Amino acid sequence: MKILDDLKKIKELDKQDMLGIEERFVDQLITAQGIVKSADYKNLKNKSFKGIAILGMGGSGVSGDIIKNLVIDSCEVPVEVIKDYELPAFIREGWLVVAISYSGNTEETLSAIGEAFKRNCEIMCISSGGKLMEIASEKNKCLVKVPGGLQPRGASGYLLFSTLLSLNEIGAISISKSDIDESLELLKQKVLLYKRESGQSDNPAKQLALALEGCMAVVYGVSGFLSAIAYRWKCEINENSKCPSFSSEFPELNHNETVGWENLSEITKKFALIVFKDSSASERIKVRIDTTSELIRKNLGKIIEIPVEGRSKLARALSTMYLGDISSVYLAFLYNTDPTPVDRISVLKTELAKLDK
Ligand code: F6R
Repeated sequence: MKILDDLKKIKELDKQDMLGIEERFVDQLITAQGIVKSADYKNLKNKSFKGIAILGMGGSGVSGDIIKNLVIDSCEVPVEVIKDYELPAFIREGWLVVAISYSGNTEETLSAIGEAFKRNCEIMCISSGGKLMEIASEKNKCLVKVPGGLQPRGASGYLLFSTLLSLNEIGAISISKSDIDESLELLKQKVLLYKRESGQSDNPAKQLALALEGCMAVVYGVSGFLSAIAYRWKCEINENSKCPSFSSEFPELNHNETVGWENLSEITKKFALIVFKDSSASERIKVRIDTTSELIRKNLGKIIEIPVEGRSKLARALSTMYLGDISSVYLAFLYNTDPTPVDRISVLKTELAKLDK
């Protein structure tokens, strides 16, 4: 039997059930809706902010990238994503600073939120626990607590939706109910299509993993929310499949990277280029994507086009993200790899913690 249809083998390999976590992605979104309904926003509701800064690293920080790009053409104040120890000088009193850390113990996020406290910014924290939660409760700041026990990247439904809906709840951004409903409906269909019981011959997520097997994945999105999703795919292939992967965005890549495929063909012939095709992209972007693909096709092993589905930006972002998330887990199985552990991240965090002793 083919491994991706061998449910017994998958169960043996996937010791902490990353595939099950992916299959329950919609449940996380629904739970997050409930969490937001019961959170206390009284200090932040209907305040006007000079800007919104979202802090977070890795699987937590990517929610910031996605949210920024979802609201960029409707939010009237700047939205910044900070993935560092320091806060830029322009983030000061009057800004809303949202710290996202699933563990609540990520040092870059803790350092930057510490600075936001000193600058008297308005604060919101999204976490399952750790020091971030302690500090937020001590200082009586808005705290949105999500369920713990997962890998941060596997909790993206909780983190992304809790942050997005909390910002909506306080009036800092606006997300329509119909966009949320459309997203949930589309994702429910995708869960049925991509879940383990759906066989390889009918399952686009398994087929994508098979197409990526043995290749180095390079993911191209268009500047905006699809670029954030391309970055999420790259990170999921890194962390779940334990493979190198890179992402880039149109139109910027046309000014450098497009030329960079000319040499080293013997290596790049093992690369798979993943391109998101969004029918609502502008004509100029469509021409860029098609022309670029034709220009570099001969230097690549293959080009995989991913149609972007959905009406709203939210549905298009989430459905495209979901395909990458779950395919990266199937790809791990093809390499006989348990998708959950990220030992090298843990080693780094332990080494850095020694500096505090
Ligand atoms: C691990 C993962 C990492 C973490 C990152 C920050 O699953 O996704 O990228 O998200 O190391 O940790 P948290 O999210 O706890 O702040």
